[in-house]
Amino acid sequence: MTMEAIHSGFGALSIEAVGKVFVSNDTNVEALRDINLRLDGPELIAIVGHSGCGKSTLLKLIAGLDRDYDGTIRFLDEVVRGPSIDRGMIFQEHRLFPWLTVEQNVRLAIHRAPLSRAKKDEIVAERLALVKLGDFARSFPAQLSGGMAQRVAIARALAASPRLLLLDEPFGALDAFNRMAIQEELLKIWQDQQIPMIIVTHDVEEAIFLSSRVVVMSPRPGRVQTIVEIDLPRPRDRTSAEFIAFKRLILDEVGFGDARGSRAS
Ligand SMILES: Nc1ncnc2c1ncn2[C@@H]1O[C@H](COP(=O)(O)OP(=O)(O)O)[C@@H](O)[C@H]1O
Ligand SMILES: [Mg+2]
Repeated sequence: MTMEAIHSGFGALSIEAVGKVFVSNDTNVEALRDINLRLDGPELIAIVGHSGCGKSTLLKLIAGLDRDYDGTIRFLDEVVRGPSIDRGMIFQEHRLFPWLTVEQNVRLAIHRAPLSRAKKDEIVAERLALVKLGDFARSFPAQLSGGMAQRVAIARALAASPRLLLLDEPFGALDAFNRMAIQEELLKIWQDQQIPMIIVTHDVEEAIFLSSRVVVMSPRPGRVQTIVEIDLPRPRDRTSAEFIAFKRLILDEVGFGDARGSRAS
């Protein structure tokens, strides 16, 4: 089966009037209120916003890791009722098993899949090649740099051929140079896989570099404050005037508007 055939069935992700309140003994925290968002194709969107504005909560709801919420989340025309291999998730920490090799970590994602041993070998090799770690198949996570470990996490998430990839501050622990390199790789992977991706990031530049829309969330309760369409051709030049204008606009939205004017950096 070709990649097109595998993914030909995907429809929209639709998030309709989604709200989430964390209830505990003495306090209720309203984490999300009236979130509405649609993805209609293999789009890459970013979500930015202050810490605590509900970004991770929203991703967990989309992933189906928390079913206790108001509103409706639909993916592939079905209401999300729990986790599914259709929806992969990547976290800031790579969460690889240190006692398993790179190859074994990736293979674990399809451990229970009804596929032959040879087919699983093929998928693992293909995904490792996709993240350019074919030569490190037998290495252990401790032998990898942070960026490489995160690439393994991407390969692992893609092993199950998800139709949506959710990334929660995946590169937050990396230094600036590694982060730029892995952003370029993620773009190539996205172009190769043709699946929708949602990346949560606190790095406005990362959001603009990667995505076609940047969703800015406001805190307490988390709401969609604005959605900025990034209509720049790819590959994007982070130093171009247009790019910097987007950066200014979004920093303004999140309340760091003094990046404007003489203090611009
Ligand atoms: N399991 C939980 N129980 C109670 N409150 C939570 C829980 N998870 C998150 N919250 C609260 O929900 C709000 C949003 O959290 P989160 O989604 O982690 O924000 P972000 O990822 O944007 O930093 C915060 O006020 C946080 O304290
Ligand atoms: Mg978070």
